[in-house]
Amino acid sequence: MHSGKLLEASDLTKVFTKGQGFVRSTIEAVSRVSLSLDLAKPEIFTLAGESGSGKSTVAKLILGFEAPTSGKIWYRGRPIANLKGTKEFMKDVQPVFQNPFETFNPLKKVQSYFFETERNFAGSAQGSYPLTEKSLELVGLNFSEIKDKYPSEMSGGQLQRASIARALITNPALLIADEPVSMIDASLRMSVVNLFKTLKEEQRVSIIYITHDLATAYYISDRIAIMLRGQFVEVGSVKKVLDNPLHPYTQLLKSSVPDPDPRSRWEEDIALSDLETREYTRRGCKFAGRCPQVQKICCEGEPDYHAVDDRLVKCHLYS
Ligand SMILES: Nc1ncnc2c1ncn2[C@@H]1O[C@H](COP(=O)(O)OP(=O)(O)OP(=O)(O)O)[C@@H](O)[C@H]1O
Ligand SMILES: [Mg+2]
Repeated sequence: MHSGKLLEASDLTKVFTKGQGFVRSTIEAVSRVSLSLDLAKPEIFTLAGESGSGKSTVAKLILGFEAPTSGKIWYRGRPIANLKGTKEFMKDVQPVFQNPFETFNPLKKVQSYFFETERNFAGSAQGSYPLTEKSLELVGLNFSEIKDKYPSEMSGGQLQRASIARALITNPALLIADEPVSMIDASLRMSVVNLFKTLKEEQRVSIIYITHDLATAYYISDRIAIMLRGQFVEVGSVKKVLDNPLHPYTQLLKSSVPDPDPRSRWEEDIALSDLETREYTRRGCKFAGRCPQVQKICCEGEPDYHAVDDRLVKCHLYS
């Protein structure tokens, strides 16, 4: 069943309880999500969607940081439940986080992370770090650019490159990058996303790229899954999905230009949280309350997935 797959997730669901007392509600932050990545053909698979749609929760499930409420994940044909936390898995599947200034302790020299990782995983002798040099080279940095530096002495773009370089020391097959460029100056963003493309093409690394930014997603990904309130609502090749979105939610997402800077989304999120809970808990299609093409059936029953024009669309319009 799983032969030929690097990663396979089937019917993943994660239930969270939100709020307290009378306003407690349970939501499916991830709801029956399935995806798979081929072993033979590395690709960049994007998860896109508004804030609070469940993207990071999918990432945490794949990394083994959270356990699914139901559903299964296999990595190289083996259940993640058995693999998580093992040296082998941590070597092969590397996270890249949003804020490089949080990835690195401000009081520790950046190079010490490289040296530790290299010693732990490759057993390189103290004083000799060939993998550090090689991985820095892959991201376009020179060892002299990080030598003896503290995180505050590097730019956000440089530091994010360094965090990707550190992830590469162990020669991973899969990177899970959760909004890796949203905290980086717009002028440097392209250079980091280009790096992902090069890593896929030249190092054969598969990447799960999580973003609000459809422009970078369009530019680097092979496939995209549009997430809405825990569900994949449209999945297919990035060209098809973004050139000609079929789901009304994808159409909305494409026409609005979301602010990629999470710091400025914060206040809006508080106002949105009501809508968020309402949509998460509503019957039928989660988008029915906002959909310009809503029909009676959308408020009654959850739509199935329909195969239309080489993609899957979870919408009653296509039944
Ligand atoms: N540990 C948790 N306990 C309770 N609820 C949670 C927890 N983690 C996430 N959630 C909720 O699950 C939903 C999905 O959250 P998630 O962080 O996965 O979304 P996201 O798409 O990554 O959002 P963003 O774009 O803002 O990063 C949200 O409603 C969030 O509040
Ligand atoms: Mg997130």
